[in-house]
Amino acid sequence: MSHWSQGQISFVKSVYKTANLPDPDLPELAFAGRSNVGKSSLINKLVNRRNLVKVSSRPGKTQALNYFLASDQVYLVDLPGYGYAKVPRKLKNDWQGLISSYLTNRVSLCCVVVIIDIRHELKALDLELVTWLRSEGVPHLVVYTKSDKLKRNQQQRQAALLDSGLGIRADERVLFSAKNGEGKENLISKLDQFLA
Ligand code: GTP
Ligand code: MG
Repeated sequence: MSHWSQGQISFVKSVYKTANLPDPDLPELAFAGRSNVGKSSLINKLVNRRNLVKVSSRPGKTQALNYFLASDQVYLVDLPGYGYAKVPRKLKNDWQGLISSYLTNRVSLCCVVVIIDIRHELKALDLELVTWLRSEGVPHLVVYTKSDKLKRNQQQRQAALLDSGLGIRADERVLFSAKNGEGKENLISKLDQFLA
């Protein structure tokens, strides 16, 4: 098990514009996905903290790039969720500007973790994000989360459907549950490969 996921973790800052990003002097991992998919929960599970990252009672709450520092080694960046209809268009465009410029220009970004709810059919925005990251050459890893909500055989069936929709192989993604910790070691070892 990797050191960064075990030691100290602290909140650094919320970033609302590119100029306020911390110096890119540490490797970083960013966590993206639809509103309410479980981004913050995944980060909490990864670092064994119950409530470090606020888990939302209502979707669309995380509006900034929230920076956390793990063991003085790695930045973990909780990105705002997408696909929440009630966000005003102006705000939506601002976010997209900030996030797309962050994702394409951030030199210290080692991997974007794209988090998808394993229970649902592939959503257009998820496919769009993965396709765009691929075309931009941004390293990324897909995670199917909330696996605890499905029985084993349903998990396999859903994962295969999502794999083929996204055009990825089974070893290019991780099945995960923030509730029971399934897939956590696999996720950490894959993230370590991106950090190496
Ligand atoms: P935004 O920041 O609003 O975009 O949401 P988020 O993607 O950070 O989701 P968050 O972690 O706040 O979780 C949303 C809801 O899903 C919460 O009620 C969580 O408890 C629940 N949840 C997240 N991950 C899991 C999981 O693996 N299993 C189960 N059963 N519930 C989960
Ligand atoms: Mg969140």
